[in-house]
Order: sequence, then structure tokens, then C-alpha cells
Amino acid sequence: MPRPLRLVPSVLVLPVSLLVAALPSAFAGSAPVRASVGLVISQSDLASAAGFEVIRAGGNAIDAAVATAFALAVTHPTAGNIGGGGFLVYRPSGGEPVAYDFRETAPAGSHPEMWLRDGRYDREAHHQGHRAVGVPGSVAGLHLAWREHGSQPWAALVAPAIRLAREGFEVSHALARSLAGQIPHFRRYPASLAQFTKDGAPYTPGDVLRQPDLARTLERIAAEGPAGFYAGETARLLEQEMLAHGGLVTRADLAAYAAKRRPVVRGTYRGYDVYSMSPPSSGGIALIQMLNTLEGWDLRAHGSGSARNVHLIAETMRRAFADRARHLGDPDFLPALPVARLTSKAYAAELRRTIDPERASVSSPTTLPWTGEALETTHLSVVDARRNAVALTTTLEGGYGSRIVVPGAGFLLNNEMGDFNAGPGLTDADGLIGTAPNLAAPGKRMLSSMSPTILAKDGRLFMVTGSPGGRTIINTVLLTILNVVDFGMNAQEAVDAGRFHHQWLPDRINVERFGLSPDTWQALEARGHRLHEVASQGVAEVIVLNPKTGELEGGLDRRAADGGAAGR
Ligand code: DON
Repeated sequence: MPRPLRLVPSVLVLPVSLLVAALPSAFAGSAPVRASVGLVISQSDLASAAGFEVIRAGGNAIDAAVATAFALAVTHPTAGNIGGGGFLVYRPSGGEPVAYDFRETAPAGSHPEMWLRDGRYDREAHHQGHRAVGVPGSVAGLHLAWREHGSQPWAALVAPAIRLAREGFEVSHALARSLAGQIPHFRRYPASLAQFTKDGAPYTPGDVLRQPDLARTLERIAAEGPAGFYAGETARLLEQEMLAHGGLVTRADLAAYAAKRRPVVRGTYRGYDVYSMSPPSSGGIALIQMLNTLEGWDLRAHGSGSARNVHLIAETMRRAFADRARHLGDPDFLPALPVARLTSKAYAAELRRTIDPERASVSSPTTLPWTGEALETTHLSVVDARRNAVALTTTLEGGYGSRIVVPGAGFLLNNEMGDFNAGPGLTDADGLIGTAPNLAAPGKRMLSSMSPTILAKDGRLFMVTGSPGGRTIINTVLLTILNVVDFGMNAQEAVDAGRFHHQWLPDRINVERFGLSPDTWQALEARGHRLHEVASQGVAEVIVLNPKTGELEGGLDRRAADGGAAGR
């Protein structure tokens, strides 16, 4: 039998001038992807193409983001989702930015001590299995953003995903490898094994992956909107799976779920306006706090990657993550969140005074980091012809979330409950957290680090950025901004540059392999830092509107083996 061609859904008849750049060979050096009509960047070339096709047909950035996000739920199952949640920051051209919160919520049966067994913390139940599943938010959130700002029919935006699920798409090397690695986990859940293996055998590159149950669920969503997910057949199937296995999410939880419009968190950095995600993500507040702190130093004069700058940036990260642990959680449960103080220039000046340019400070174990978060989330950036912009980060939490596919409904459920703190008072030196702001409670949203962010200057769009990576997200986004604003890198250079991360505790700087020169590493150790090498950090997708040429310039992160920019 001839090998199947790479399947592209029939709507995606791409004009010759359309650029669909697939990783990793499409770029020379660090040249960004260039486009003028519009640009979509995501971790799946098929999903980006689905999104750009919407722009080509006259849709706007929200329409394209919705189409891309649904397509990611099919082609990038590790993090693209309808069974998870996320955040979207939207800046209409010249208008007021707004954020959409579609974070999962804790089901009604949740309580702060739900992961204690005989008084002992059960880490496995906190992060895996049916009790780790939060009430999904993605369908409600995408629909709310579309209802308020979309211009194309809803069903048309879900259609490419339906086609990809029904007709299938060719499995890439990266997806084949990723799915094969999950088989031991999928074996616990027959519907997961059926959906992502060939009767238990791994998919190989070039195989066509079809997901007919998912196609049917997407069809219900296309026809009925959120009711196609939160009620009727989909809700019945989800509740049935929960009831059969001790999970907590009920039809009543699904019916009660509401996505929320939130004010963006705002700041300024060296003359740029910064708009990012508000709580229940910690991302925007921590990002703006760090930018405010760093604004007090001339980073450019010392150069990207200099020991002095890495030191100052790491000390700044350390402080922002301590504040994150101390203060942040679901704003609907914490009416007195100190957002204004944490994002003020005055507070940043106070923090700067505590930083010794020559010496690392020491993290105190009286405030500790969150428990380990997995590294599987995904970000997409979109700019359309009118320069409306969307930054959207979405997650199932771990790779493939709970790994539970809802039987008959074909979608993966999140394990986002693991982002709540472990239990009251369960703070320990290994990183467990028991502080109050982020303890589980019915209907509460677990604290996130997702940081979809947009920058503008003098009323004009400048930059769209975001990344996966658990707590590293905030620092990855910070570094992309510093790389462009302070160090003058283009979008691709800003994405390619080596990354590092400090999160208060453990008290060390994680540095990407080849991220710093050996003498910089030594100079940081001489200042008292402990450094630790990591393979890679984040997968940033960046778009910069070049103020001189008016062109869109995209930076696609090659740290992920899959991904694509689609634009013209
Ligand atoms: O919401 C959060 O911050 C985490 N659940 C995100 C997890 C994540 O980024 C994993 N990514 N690569």
C-alpha cells in the first residue's frame, strides 16, 4: 500500500504565497518568520494552518485563536485540549485589552484535606487518577471570547478540528515518540489505550491517527456551543466515567462551570505597556513585578547573558516567586489580593534595595515553592490583518493530563487539581506547600503560572508572547521580553536565546544546556549562586510587530520537535 500523504484538511487549500513553516529546517539562522496579513504560531503546524485559514477567509485574531485551539486538541493531545483549561489575553487593535479565564475549578466534593489519607499526604491521588481532575474550562472560555469578539460562525471555527479528528492526520516523529512513552500509563484506561495506540501497539511516524469519538464530541460542540460539552451526551459520558472510578466531577459541576472575563494585569516597562494574565494565574503579577524591578538597572549596557545581568535577573525572580507563594490564589476566594502593591513601581524599588549586585541572597524556607508541576502546556500567538492580537496558553497540567480519555467522548481529562496546595500546614523543605491562599475548595480555581502577555507602545501593538513550562513559564516570558526590549533581538533570536530560571526554592538557578558560558557560570558561583543544568526550558511562541517595517515577525521555538507558523 502506498504510504499515506500528509493529510491537510480540505479547507486548508494554501495559496502559494502562504508560509507554513515546519520545524526544524525551515529557517536559516535566526531569521524570524515574516508576514504582513496575519500570523499564527503554535506547537502544531496543522493547528496554525487551521487558524491562519480563518484569517485568510476574513476572520479576526479571536476567530483564528479559537480554530487553532480546537485543532490543537486533536493534533497536539499532550496539551491541546477540550478537557482542560487556560487563559487568553486579547488586545483589539488600538482598544482596551481584556483577559478570559477558563481555568478549571474544583468540583463540589473538594475540600482542603482531600489528599490526606489517615493524616498522611497522598501525592499520587493529588496528581493522578480521577480525583486529580478539575472541571474543564476550555470550551466555555473559547466560546465566551468568541461571543464577545468573534466574527465568524462558531461552527466554522470548530470544523477544522472535526475534520482532523475524523479524517485523521499523519503522526509526526515527535508525536509517535511521545505517544509511545505514554503507553504504560494508557494501559490503565482502556479508552485511552484504544484512542492513542493501534490495539496496544505504538503509532509509528507516518501512520494516520483518527479520533472518531472526539470528532463526535466536537460536532456536538459545533452544533450546540458549550451545551454540547457541559450538558447532554458529553456531560453524561464524563459523569459516568467519574462515578465508575471515584472521581468527583458531576453533571452539576459541569452545569455550574462559568468562564470569566477578567481585567488584565497592567504594567509598563521602559515605555512599553504590558498586559498579562490576572489571577487565578500568578503569571501577570509576577511578570510585572519582575519587569518593574529590572527597570531600575541598565541591562543593555552589560549585555545579554552577562554574569551581572543573570545575577540581577535571578535575584529578581527569587523575590517574585516568594511573593507568589505567599499571596496568590483564586481572586474570587481571596478578595484582598495585593495586586496593586505587588505590581507597583514603589514596591519594585523596595525589592531592588534588597538586592546586592555582588552577592546572591539566600531563600528562607519560611516561604516555599509550589509542589512540582509537570512541563506540558501549550501556547499560541495570533495577530490578524487589523493587528488585533491574542496570546492564549492552555493546559491539561501534566502531559496528556490525567491520561484518562472519557470513554465514548474521545477527549483527555486534565489533572489540574495537582496545582492546588497539598493540604493545610503541609509545608516542608522538599517543596510541599500548605499555605492558605491556594488550598482546594468547591468551585475554586487552582493557582496557575500561565502568562499569556501582550506589549504595546504608543497605542500600537508591539509583541505577543507566552510559553508552557509550569512555574518556568513566567521567567521564560520575562526573558523573551528582555531579549527584545533590552537586548534588541528579533523575535526568533529572542526565542532561541538560552534561558534560566530561579523560583525562590529550591535555592538555585536552573540553566539551559549551553545557556551560559563556563566563565559566566563560574562568575555566578563566585557570587554565591548554586547552578543546575537542565535540558531545556519552555516553548515560547513570539510575534513582534516591527515598528519600522510594519511587518509581523514570528519566533517559533525549536525546543519542541513539532510546531509551525502560518501566515502571509
Ligand atoms: O497552570 C499552570 O501553571 C500549570 N498547570 C501549567 C503546567 C505546565 O505549564 C506544564 N507545561 N509545560
